[in-house]
Amino acid sequence: MLLEVRDLHVEFRTREGIAKAVNGVTYSVDEGETLAVLGESGSGKSVTAQAVMGILDTPPGRITGGRILFQGRDLLTLKEDERRKVRGARMAMVFQDALSALNPVLTVGDQLAEMFTVHRGASRKDARAKAVELMDRVRIPAARERAGQYPHQFSGGMRQRIMIAMAMALEPALIIADEPTTALDVTVQAQVMELLAELRRELRMGLVLITHDLGVVADVADRIAVMYAGRIVETAPVHDLYRAPAHPYTQGLLDSIPRLDRKGRELYAISGLPPSLTAIPTGCPFHPRCPRARDVCRTDDPPLYEVSADRRSACHFWRETLRKEPLDAPR
Ligand SMILES: Nc1ncnc2c1ncn2[C@@H]1O[C@H](COP(=O)(O)OP(=O)(O)OP(=O)(O)O)[C@@H](O)[C@H]1O
Ligand code: SF4
Ligand SMILES: [Mg+2]
Repeated sequence: MLLEVRDLHVEFRTREGIAKAVNGVTYSVDEGETLAVLGESGSGKSVTAQAVMGILDTPPGRITGGRILFQGRDLLTLKEDERRKVRGARMAMVFQDALSALNPVLTVGDQLAEMFTVHRGASRKDARAKAVELMDRVRIPAARERAGQYPHQFSGGMRQRIMIAMAMALEPALIIADEPTTALDVTVQAQVMELLAELRRELRMGLVLITHDLGVVADVADRIAVMYAGRIVETAPVHDLYRAPAHPYTQGLLDSIPRLDRKGRELYAISGLPPSLTAIPTGCPFHPRCPRARDVCRTDDPPLYEVSADRRSACHFWRETLRKEPLDAPR
């Protein structure tokens, strides 16, 4: 296993109290595998990724429990200088906003070249050649000339390609991409996503793809982890999850996107709002919004039940969902 996150807990000290942003997240990514992490805004997707990368804001954030195993080593016990070596060289991150992730006063070529001079001890000349090669690889036209330009001189889509090039520069084993295409136009989104998927295949990297777009997931991911209120509520191979979700929240998400195979059917909307992280409901945290909720859901926190060898669902009544019993008004 490349990456294993086990029972991770992260809290933030806020004015309203302790915000429990991550509450026992468990997921894993195999070598060369793509795991999509899906969930509404505030469900803890980015905070989990920041904890894995070792770039969490501490304070106000704090990891209060769990383990993060990367290539068999527990990252949470590493010293900061060891951690820094892992980051960049063996795992890298692609962010939503390239403009704030790139250095505005360095040319793109210099920033890429720095990866090789700093981490690999390459000469300036070799590093420069590698930078141009990378820009070619992420299909930036006229790479040699454009290497001398600054980030703001590139379009959003091209900048995103540059950030992908930075992340891939040292051929890491794992890339975490946090909403890498959200800020782009729809057509550019598809191109950038395609590039990312293609490079991942070529370099056989593991990829954690954070997104709230169920549409992109089906084409690029092997497995999905669905998050709600700082925990994983369902994990499954992509196609199983699409065909038959095993958690009412996942079912709600799927029923709320237009799908060709369901043309003419009315779109469903999940009622209510995500919970406040300083006051997560007792029992199943989804119960105030769940159309299947019963008394037991208000008191008993569901474990991640084993649905099959490679599927889990944190719902007491996953069988009903799996049988495709329709959702209706809360009981
Ligand atoms: N720097 C911070 N200070 C205080 N609270 C924070 C901080 N960063 C995150 N949080 C808390 O953690 C929660 C989860 O945030 P996170 O960024 O992981 O959500 P997300 O699932 O990535 O959402 P989105 O889809 O909007 O990116 C937030 O709602 C917030 O309460
Ligand atoms: S445990 Fe109960 S409230 Fe939670 S998702 Fe399942 S049915 Fe809904
Ligand atoms: Mg986020």
